[in-house]
Amino acid sequence: MARRALITGITGQDGSYLAEHLLDQGYEVWGLARGQANPRVSRMRKLLSDVQVVRGDLLDQGSLISAVERVRPDEVYNLGAISFVPMSWEQAELTAEVTGMGVLRMLEAIRVCSGVSRGAAAPSGQIRFYQASSSEMFGQVTETPQNERTAFHPRSPYGVAKAYGHFLTQNYRESYGMYAVSGILFNHESPRRGAEFVTRKVSLAVARIKLGMATELRLGNLEARRDWGYAGDYVKAMHLMLQADVPEDYVIGTGHMKSVRELAEAAFDAVGLDWEQYVVTDQKLHRPAEVDLLCADPKKARTQLGWEPRVSFDELVAMMVESDLRLLADGGDPDQDSSWP
Ligand code: NAP
Ligand code: GDD
Repeated sequence: MARRALITGITGQDGSYLAEHLLDQGYEVWGLARGQANPRVSRMRKLLSDVQVVRGDLLDQGSLISAVERVRPDEVYNLGAISFVPMSWEQAELTAEVTGMGVLRMLEAIRVCSGVSRGAAAPSGQIRFYQASSSEMFGQVTETPQNERTAFHPRSPYGVAKAYGHFLTQNYRESYGMYAVSGILFNHESPRRGAEFVTRKVSLAVARIKLGMATELRLGNLEARRDWGYAGDYVKAMHLMLQADVPEDYVIGTGHMKSVRELAEAAFDAVGLDWEQYVVTDQKLHRPAEVDLLCADPKKARTQLGWEPRVSFDELVAMMVESDLRLLADGGDPDQDSSWP
């Protein structure tokens, strides 16, 4: 019988790549989707027609228990979250509820449905749980590069909520013997990235400027540095983590960082334009507390899981710019539902 996976955050970037990867591996894939008329669910169904949808919301404990009871998954991937850092200052409580408490609700749904209780041995063939932790937990970094033992100093309500989910996942592993792990993933991008994140904002703007549809690109902090990889590579690491004999947490990233300035330069270069002619900096786009730099040490994932990123930074930027050029030239809708500047 095919193994069954339940993915929260199925309408997001990672949900789509992970679903494709698991379908390729022969899984029966279920996606948890919220809302009674969520347009992103219909879009997801067009892209991923083999994914089955179960309704549920990370804010609603009962719905998660029902979803786990209905799907009876072998593996649960908790990717659902409010994931845009600036939004977490504007809606800090909601971010805590979805991104933080949502992890508790999902773990409780699995615990209750599997009949796991304190003191009792965890049942064999238990549901395996993956939590989408984030390099944002490192925040104001205490060392570079960051590994699985680097201390956390989150700099946003989002980072704080992720740290709660991370420690809780570890705690359920230690308290109940559950197979629960966290992937501490550094920034990963793709043509399916939301338009509010800086890489996609840049690739869309470059494509618009090249096609004569725009004349400038407004950005915030050009000096921030990130370890940017390709989402299609990173979802493979999520799956590998749940196949390990022993549940452990892993850092996933490329080990190389670039600044936002270098990102803009590479993207304009890809279409033969000079970035300095078009980029305008805007103080309003700076964050109240910035994460200046993030750079992964992915050695543990390489040695224990055999995971390696395949797509380089330059290949990723070129892939995103080319995709947005095609999308706009074909009159497509470049995810304009984002209201962020
Ligand atoms: P994304 O594109 O923003 O997707 C977020 C998903 O969460 C969407 O499917 C959204 O569904 C869902 N969601 C929001 N509120 C929900 C709720 N109340 N109940 C259930 N689902 C809800 O994020 P992503 O880039 O794919 O990232 C996936 C996960 O990895 C997130 O947890 C993110 O924080 C984490 N992460 C991402 C990165 C990265 O660089 N991409 C790095 C580290 C960690 P709707 O369509 O219903 O809004
Ligand atoms: N979004 C955005 N828009 N960011 C900008 C801009 C702009 O106009 N100008 C400069 N930046 C800088 C931000 O200040 C930040 O330092 C960097 O670009 C990256 O911003 P985002 O692309 O919004 O991503 P993030 O690093 O805040 O968060 C992403 O990665 C995390 C992992 O480290 C998200 O995917 C999080 O969900 C994820 O956990």
